Amino acid sequence: MRKTCPVTRVVMKGTASRSHRWSATGQFLHWSCAALILFMLGLGLAMVEWVEDQGQRFDLYQLHKSLGALVFLLMALRAAWRLLARAPVLPESMPRHERVLSKTVHVALYGLIFAMLVTGYVMISASPLPLPIQLPGGGHVPNLVAPDFELSERMKALHHRIAFVLIGLVLLHVAAAFKHWLWDRDGVLQSMLPGRG
Ligand code: HEM
Ligand code: HEM
Repeated sequence: MRKTCPVTRVVMKGTASRSHRWSATGQFLHWSCAALILFMLGLGLAMVEWVEDQGQRFDLYQLHKSLGALVFLLMALRAAWRLLARAPVLPESMPRHERVLSKTVHVALYGLIFAMLVTGYVMISASPLPLPIQLPGGGHVPNLVAPDFELSERMKALHHRIAFVLIGLVLLHVAAAFKHWLWDRDGVLQSMLPGRG
């Protein structure tokens, strides 16, 4: 049965029982992860490339590592939730190649975020400097591997490269969301915003 989106009047593909919006949980997980990851990208670049004061730099490194633990928690929740949840129906007007591209970019975003988390964690664990990831309340995350300078440097180089691929993909993702909003006007951007239906 054909269903029309009450917000945009666009014909939606799929059965009448499927929503055309992400649920409140889906939206919360998307926006909290998106905000944190954008912040982590800015913080990472600032602490490595721009901040010169050594004390300030140290504090920013510690903050970056601790926030990494929070990103891990939220992303693990998000991935588990995503395996169980159904995505909203996409507009019928969306061509097949765009659906495939959008799915590919989404999967790649998940993959790159987890790759950033793993390379960051191994880099810190293998570092000869004993500075583990601090948690609120005074605890810390145990190291994953024994100190190994070469491994730590390899992970650092990977973390750096993956960060730039991630930035490129986020730009593509945001540009696509705005294209759907301003050009296609097909309700895809609205599917990630609160509303009825
Ligand atoms: C999605 C999560 C993460 C993002 C988006 C992110 C992003 C970044 C970025 C953009 C840089 C600067 C790269 C450069 O210019 O060389 C950086 C550096 C760094 N990140 Fe992350 N990071 C994440 C997770 C983590 C985690 C979990 C840890 C460790 C627990 C970590 C530890 C570090 C460290 C130590 C550096 C500095 C490396 C250096 O001295 O060159 N990051 N991160
Ligand atoms: C202005 C910023 C952003 C906008 C407007 C936006 C918009 C959207 C929209 C509308 C969707 C749903 C697409 C669909 O159902 O086909 C989506 C999905 C997604 N977004 Fe974003 N997004 C933004 C930032 C980000 C950032 C920074 C990240 C992470 C790096 C991100 C990661 C994802 C992922 C992984 C999905 C796939 C959801 C899934 O299938 O589980 N987004 N985004």
